[in-house]
Amino acid sequence: MAIVDVTGIGKSYRLSAGHKETVLQDVSLNIESGSVVGLLGPNGAGKTTLIKILSGLLRPDTGGGTILGYDLLRDHALIRSRISLVSPTSDVGTDNNLTVRQNLQFWAPVYGLIGERAKSRIEELLTKVNLRDKADAWPMHLSAGQRQRLALARSLLAENPLIFLDEPTNKLDFDGVRSVRELVQDLNRNHGVTILLTTHVMEEAEELCDAIALLREGKLLAYMKTRDLTQSLGLTRTIRVAFRRPGSAEVDAQRVGLQSDLARMPAVQAARVSEDSSTMVSAELQTLDIRATTPVLLDCLRRRNWNLISMQSEMVTLHDVFLSTIKPAEDMERGI
Ligand SMILES: Nc1ncnc2c1ncn2[C@@H]1O[C@H](COP(=O)(O)OP(=O)(O)O)[C@@H](O)[C@H]1O
Ligand SMILES: [Mg+2]
Repeated sequence: MAIVDVTGIGKSYRLSAGHKETVLQDVSLNIESGSVVGLLGPNGAGKTTLIKILSGLLRPDTGGGTILGYDLLRDHALIRSRISLVSPTSDVGTDNNLTVRQNLQFWAPVYGLIGERAKSRIEELLTKVNLRDKADAWPMHLSAGQRQRLALARSLLAENPLIFLDEPTNKLDFDGVRSVRELVQDLNRNHGVTILLTTHVMEEAEELCDAIALLREGKLLAYMKTRDLTQSLGLTRTIRVAFRRPGSAEVDAQRVGLQSDLARMPAVQAARVSEDSSTMVSAELQTLDIRATTPVLLDCLRRRNWNLISMQSEMVTLHDVFLSTIKPAEDMERGI
């Protein structure tokens, strides 16, 4: 079932002197229940505007459709009460005069949670967003990532089946990014929540999302399964591995055997093996899909009993994606 089903969404803002800025143009999006979709685009692409429209906060100039089966234009109040939205400004809803737990206790009745149910849900969420040891802390003593997770916990009080996350990992440090990404995966895999998130980090979209919608200057350039998108872009990336093998007998035969094994791995375009010493070997692989290649590569080394010393891979950036969609953009638009 499509949980989000909108077509022809358009929005423009009237600027001074009668000028109009078109922010969204003819955007159609269909999101299956239970999936994680990434809305990917540079700053100013229209991501936040689209999220606001889909959450029933902003009325589109053109187009319409349904969210959770409710009419986007008619039932916007119902939609607002059935979805959760975490935006970069969600933190504003945090009261600095209440502790972390008290903030959740304050908001629980707003989402219809009272008594024992509220209590157990709050404790469950504190654990889920990894704020249990900060439950009695004041919000101003939290890091940016912890405040972001508090805002997330607040929106999760509602237990809605559809969540919009606008730049959930923006401005977070490495641990903050990791824990928010894990939370997204947990909500989706273990609680069946459908998630639409915006990001301008390709790596994040690749890691979390089943499908990616590419938005640029208000237009949807592509909307497809993550794997199809990365493969259709034809962007090869390099994986470099170094490992140590026991003994040095039949060195050359091993090298030739390994090279042909690597070249046959999923999504691999080319492979080169070089001997750094009689026991140290390094290899360089060009792959169209790091996630498809990596587990097979690790498994191959494990089966040969070779010890991994280091592994590095180059990520595709949003910049690479947009550069490579400039030429086929017209074809992609037709294909949507
Ligand atoms: N309330 C508004 N009034 C006028 N212009 C706006 C308003 N909100 C957003 N915009 C403009 O719409 C464009 C898209 O903004 P936004 O949806 O926030 O993009 P993104 O989230 O992808 O960075 C930007 O050029 C922005 O300046
Ligand atoms: Mg935005």
